[in-house]
Amino acid sequence: MNDNLRENAERGAFSGKIGYVLATAGSAVGLGNIWRFPYLAARYGGGIFLLVYLVLALTFGYTLMMSESTMGRLTGKSPVGAFSALSKRGIAKAGGWINAVIPMLILPYYSVIGGWVCKYLFEYLRGNVAGTAQDDFFGGFITSAADAELWFIVFAALTLVVIVAGVENGVEKVSKIMMPILVLLAMIVAVYSMTRPGAAAGIKYFLVPDFSHFSWMTVVAALGQMFYSLSIAMGILITYGSYMKKDVDIEKATHQVIFFDSGIAVLAGLMIIPAVFAFSGGDPSMLNKGPGLMFVTIPKVFESMGLGQAVGILFFVLVLFAALTSAISLAETCASTFQDELGMGRTKATGLVAIIMVVLGSLSSLGYSGLSFVRIFGMEILDFFDFLTNSLMMPVAAFATCIFVVKAVGLDNISKEVKLSSKFRFEGMYRVFIRSVAPIFVVVILLSSILSVLGILNI
Ligand code: PHE
Repeated sequence: MNDNLRENAERGAFSGKIGYVLATAGSAVGLGNIWRFPYLAARYGGGIFLLVYLVLALTFGYTLMMSESTMGRLTGKSPVGAFSALSKRGIAKAGGWINAVIPMLILPYYSVIGGWVCKYLFEYLRGNVAGTAQDDFFGGFITSAADAELWFIVFAALTLVVIVAGVENGVEKVSKIMMPILVLLAMIVAVYSMTRPGAAAGIKYFLVPDFSHFSWMTVVAALGQMFYSLSIAMGILITYGSYMKKDVDIEKATHQVIFFDSGIAVLAGLMIIPAVFAFSGGDPSMLNKGPGLMFVTIPKVFESMGLGQAVGILFFVLVLFAALTSAISLAETCASTFQDELGMGRTKATGLVAIIMVVLGSLSSLGYSGLSFVRIFGMEILDFFDFLTNSLMMPVAAFATCIFVVKAVGLDNISKEVKLSSKFRFEGMYRVFIRSVAPIFVVVILLSSILSVLGILNI
């Protein structure tokens, strides 16, 4: 690595390992853990999904997180800049751009789900505990165009206000208080949900792998979820790595983020899946519910707790908070890409983010009402954006990162950078994964996603 790049790398902004771990965990822990993980686990096999997910996170996830954060620290730049700094070839820039475009496509639909959270919070605030627990409440809400659109805009506005005000410091400070409360509350709800009559079958379904539930789709979905949940393959970790000081143990920090993020996902699974069994007896159509699962089961749990309103308010405030910190990190990445690469000022860049959010987000939101006739490869619009980013674009971005790290950066340079402050205990595994297992696997996953969506492969 040449000296220019090294000098650049001294722009450390995180106070140390804790700062890095907290910021990264703040971006990682969000709706992906609480809303997305449980419905995928319910849909794709329960315990076997969990097992596949954990194995992937500790091998693949580890490899990609290490690569991204090390690239960031090495160059001191965010994605497009980091890729171009490390190689002069045009294709490198393309690799950077694919990383940068993904958050622009995720943020809009992420904000639609954020809007659902706001709506539920509002309902709990006004004491509508019984109403939200009705079977058709969720469906009624998302199919009413104006209501869904209104709450989507509320969430988008909240995100943008923070970006404009740049109160990152405040957010970080509040995170330190809110995150532990979220964990505590999740534990209470999980214990309650696990002790309902009939819940034991749900605990078993979620924790004990049953190989008869395994399908190739389990792997495809688990891989997509891993990218999403760990905020991999979208440049976030490159950017955060660029703020990391040279004495931070990258490997340890990476492991901590993976454990924390997976821990919250497991807790969310224990909150929601046993409750699904307790309230529906494990009805397969309920397990297959998809994006609505959390919004349908959690209110039922709260209603039966008797403490419904207070717990409901607290829960949705905390979920809202986790969602906001993640949305902010997504919006921030988009804005900084526009600033750095298109030479826009802060305000203009934020304006462009707002336009993208409103246009694409409205499509996703209206996909359940005014635009419900639209089906893209059989998917609703929101599901399609989710599929496009997680199952198609992220594997491409991850593939680009692997090739780039091996060919342009060089594994010895990566090792040298990591070893500045870390033992790099899993270096052997890292090298095998980044060189062969990860790129091959990612291509296989990508092809199977494409073939299955075209109806050629039935998985
Ligand atoms: N990882 C976040 C979650 O689990 C989502 C996210 C993805 C946030 C990418 C930032 C960047 O909800």
